[in-house]
Amino acid sequence: MPFAIVRNDITKMEVDAIVNAANKSLKGGGGVDGAIHAAAGPELLEECRRIGGIETGEAVVTGGYRLPAKYVIHTAGPVYRGGIFGEERLLKSCYIESLKRAEEKGCRSVAFPLISAGAYHYPREKALDTAIRAIREYLSGKEDEPEIYLVIYDRESFRISSKKVKEIRAFIDDRYVEAHPDRRRRESYDAALPGEDSFDSAVFQNEAFYEAGAAEAPQAPMPQYSEAAKKPGIPKAKAKKTGYALSQKAVMSSAMAPASGKPKSLDEWVREIDESFTEMLLRKIDEKGMTDAECYKKANIDRKLFSKIRMNPQYKPKKVTALAFAIALELPLAETQELLGKAGYTLSKSSKFDLIIEYFILNGNYDIFDINEALFHFDQVLLGA
Ligand code: APR
Repeated sequence: MPFAIVRNDITKMEVDAIVNAANKSLKGGGGVDGAIHAAAGPELLEECRRIGGIETGEAVVTGGYRLPAKYVIHTAGPVYRGGIFGEERLLKSCYIESLKRAEEKGCRSVAFPLISAGAYHYPREKALDTAIRAIREYLSGKEDEPEIYLVIYDRESFRISSKKVKEIRAFIDDRYVEAHPDRRRRESYDAALPGEDSFDSAVFQNEAFYEAGAAEAPQAPMPQYSEAAKKPGIPKAKAKKTGYALSQKAVMSSAMAPASGKPKSLDEWVREIDESFTEMLLRKIDEKGMTDAECYKKANIDRKLFSKIRMNPQYKPKKVTALAFAIALELPLAETQELLGKAGYTLSKSSKFDLIIEYFILNGNYDIFDINEALFHFDQVLLGA
């Protein structure tokens, strides 16, 4: 995912370069500037002193010293004075110039704070919007995209209206009660899923978990039938073990060739295999009149991963990748579930993350920024911007 918004302390980011929201003198300060200097050690200030100062919108590189990052890129954001003194152009220049310094150093991963959104009083929503647009503009011209992180340090940066929070909360409760009629409303919701947040974010952070397609991932009740149970030769016991319940009758009826009433041959079984994830994805891109690049960039998936998917008709993506494509294609809920199903997943009614995605799809809101505001508020992993 070439661009992700994450919640973290930038001094902890294990990337090739972190960007410092410095001032023109490069003599250190408070906020993220103070945190970076404190974590890097005194050598950083000595190197900054040797460089001298910079102009607003410019960017220079130093070593990272005691930081996990190899480099620190220092840029001076504009002080916000109403937005009529070229602040947006200067702020955008901070991101673009910093990315150019990172590229010159061969960095494969870069982390930004929300430049000017603190002591320099840039309104956070505007600062966030300018940051996302500048980074996406830089990435759109790139063949070989570096990993870019926008590090959000405090809740303030994603302010979601309390009305929206109430709506989403009610939606989650209703869906949860629907899925668990035996349980009472909200108070049981949180209690019923202890650590559900941490589990979700942990699971999403450990994406390999989904990569493995582990059957024990937080899914809704298993589908009534499945590829596993349909595949010829899978002993029923194994099908049961993997949680793929299938009624004996269903097995028998689907195993008979309709016309002849004779058991289907292996060829007939295999010919029935459904459209794969890749096939459905490419079909939907065509139906939407999108180019491949428009789709994967809107889904914030890098070109290399898209090529891997396109070249492999049986590719099994991670759940968050499949969801990113569903949002980029603006698929209605049924088609989102269908696309997820092709990769062996479903939108679970026991996962807050999934329920929030379902809320936005049902409301026809595919704006990644709005979705991330809500995910951030509910302490969930964010979709790439
Ligand atoms: N990690 C990530 N983000 C952080 C961290 C951190 N450790 N600490 C603060 N932030 C966030 C703030 O919450 C804010 O959203 O960084 C954003 C930028 O805030 P500031 O650090 O105040 O930077 P800025 O608004 O650009 O002002 C720069 O402040 O510290 C001085 O020397 C600096 O004069 C310069 C001015």
